[in-house]
Amino acid sequence: MTAVTVRVPAKVNVQLAVGPARPDGFHDLANVFLAVGLYDEVTATPADSLRITCSGPDADKVPLDRTNLAARAAELLAARFGLVPDVHLHIAKDIPVAGGMAGGSADGAAALVACDALWGTGASRAELLDICAELGSDVPFSLVGGAALGTGRGEKLTPLEVGGTFHWVFAAADGGLSTPAVYREFDRLTPGASAPSASPALLAALRSGDPFELAPVLTNDLQSAALSLRPSLADPLAVGMAAGALASLVSGSGPTTAFLAEDKPSARKLADALTASGTCRSARVASSPAPGATVVSG
Ligand code: C5P
Repeated sequence: MTAVTVRVPAKVNVQLAVGPARPDGFHDLANVFLAVGLYDEVTATPADSLRITCSGPDADKVPLDRTNLAARAAELLAARFGLVPDVHLHIAKDIPVAGGMAGGSADGAAALVACDALWGTGASRAELLDICAELGSDVPFSLVGGAALGTGRGEKLTPLEVGGTFHWVFAAADGGLSTPAVYREFDRLTPGASAPSASPALLAALRSGDPFELAPVLTNDLQSAALSLRPSLADPLAVGMAAGALASLVSGSGPTTAFLAEDKPSARKLADALTASGTCRSARVASSPAPGATVVSG
């Protein structure tokens, strides 16, 4: 095999319930992930050494060294199977960088699946998920896609049923927000956070596929922390509501903001209004759920 390309989705958290900091520094979560149809593609080809390249509008913001989760995925897989990770990984990036949409995690999961196919390691799904959990809390979900409840630090997944297609707009902000910094701000703002649990109303709304049922039960415990660090995020959130969004929220740890729309035409109008408002860098329409990391060629 000479090249394998894997397509992988972004995510939005439709519920992100955060508990107190654990002794290991992570937080226990009830994290309801929904994969959305904005995709990166990672292509793995044989090479003399491990090398990362990236293309796309945000390419200059992507680290090309061993800190990139795609590089770490190749290294972990190779180490487990006694191989040398001599591979060129090209990331065609469309997911906002450092935006709270798990773009880096997505590239880790995609690189893992691509290298597994290129090297013919025959790793089991359980082994791949194990490596994903080692790479980061959001990486297992990027592998499986669809919708899932993540517990523990978000890596222990239970698949969830989704009864229809939800239409979203995602507004990218200038600059990123550091996930550890947002969690630290959450700790400062929320002394005595209680143990997180999934909301039965939220799970029922996902099953119903009805955006009017989902809108009032969307929650993100990191939103206040993201707004505290970046107060200007209130601007796109307000513009989106005024332009007819059923709900608006910060996506994950931000700074991307997410807007739930009634249907696809409403999502397009909403995206136009957000773009015209000048409160965001760009606004993209996407629907959910979307499939997880998938080999598209090779
Ligand atoms: O797991 P991941 O490497 O994506 O986490 C990045 C950072 O986000 C962690 O170092 C930690 O500061 C924070 N985090 C957390 N609790 C979680 C997940 C992430 O505190 N459940």
